[in-house]
Amino acid sequence: MTKKIPEKMKAVVLPGYNGNMIKAIKSLEIKLLPVPKPDKGQVLIKVDATTCNPSDLSFIQGSYGIKKELHVVPGFEGTGIVVQTGNDETSKNLLDKRVSFNAHVKLNGAWAEYVVTNTKQCIPVHPDIPVEQAACMLINPYTAYALFELIKERKSKAFVMNAAMGQLAGMMRSLANETGIEVINIVRKKAQIEILKNKGSKHILCSADDNFLNQFTELAKQLEAKTFIDAVSGELSGKMLELMPSNSQLILYGALTGENLSHIGAKDLIFFGKNVTGFNLIQWFETTPKEKIREVSYKLQEKIRKGKIKTEIYKKVKLKEVSGSLIRYIINMSAGKVIIEP
Ligand SMILES: NC(=O)c1ccc[n+]([C@@H]2O[C@H](COP(=O)([O-])OP(=O)(O)OC[C@H]3O[C@@H](n4cnc5c(N)ncnc54)[C@H](OP(=O)(O)O)[C@@H]3O)[C@@H](O)[C@H]2O)c1
Repeated sequence: MTKKIPEKMKAVVLPGYNGNMIKAIKSLEIKLLPVPKPDKGQVLIKVDATTCNPSDLSFIQGSYGIKKELHVVPGFEGTGIVVQTGNDETSKNLLDKRVSFNAHVKLNGAWAEYVVTNTKQCIPVHPDIPVEQAACMLINPYTAYALFELIKERKSKAFVMNAAMGQLAGMMRSLANETGIEVINIVRKKAQIEILKNKGSKHILCSADDNFLNQFTELAKQLEAKTFIDAVSGELSGKMLELMPSNSQLILYGALTGENLSHIGAKDLIFFGKNVTGFNLIQWFETTPKEKIREVSYKLQEKIRKGKIKTEIYKKVKLKEVSGSLIRYIINMSAGKVIIEP
């Protein structure tokens, strides 16, 4: 069944990559584009809500692992109703369903009224899950789940986590609370210590503190923290790995500084069993069996329904307000996500 679908749609368009984040955000324009048509293995989604993650900011600067042909509609995730499908059974089964989706790695993204993506990048959403939570469901919750599995596999008694005021970090804390695994939270602003304390966190250090590296060494040793999930990268992360116990692993999954990981002690890698690895959700989806993804989806949706995993929302905006609201988001990312409702 084909719904009545308009010829044209409003979309946020990036005319060119720009390494200056503010200039990249300010260059975004609202345009009328043809509504795309789904091929076999694809669906057309009428977008109810989408969001902006650090990966989107990195994408518009041209520094992300995915680059698309320009002009392009950004936006890696969202939620909406499947209104048209390709001519295959799996896609047709999604018709009229509410889904959370990841954008296609080559086609226009989610910051639009309509988007086409691969059917396998859609997950039907439980009706109890609010639209703004569904809009943020496919990136951070799955990443938190997958990273936490790695922490458990390493039998870590404690782990270190920077960017600890971010949304993904909050999800990691919820997962850790269920197991008794301790978390060393690293924030970058002193005021954020009190906020996390009030949320019940026990171990919080501020990287801007003069004595930070000494405090960190002590705490990592005391709690036997041997896994460091790093969203920040740069020199400080390398130094922190050097100060962690033998056999520690740094799992790099973000580069919020925009810098390479550096200052990792050669002796640590050669003699003290330390190592560095990366994590990427796209690869996780590609390499994880379908049944496992289904099981994880069920578990995560249960947690989201019960409010155990939650994305804090800073503001809901329309497409035409995207530039202004993204500038406010980058000034205070910890305040929560901007939800774009086309
Ligand atoms: N590899 C993957 O597959 C994958 C998947 C999902 C997410 N991620 C990564 O996970 C990280 C967190 O994402 P999120 O959605 O939770 O972010 P978010 O909610 O937007 O929050 C970002 C947090 O990082 C802090 N921050 C920003 N720049 C920083 C810097 N240069 N140094 C230290 N802290 C900084 C912010 O603090 P302020 O408030 O002080 O700015 C804020 O608390 C990002 O790096 C993202 O790319 C990776």
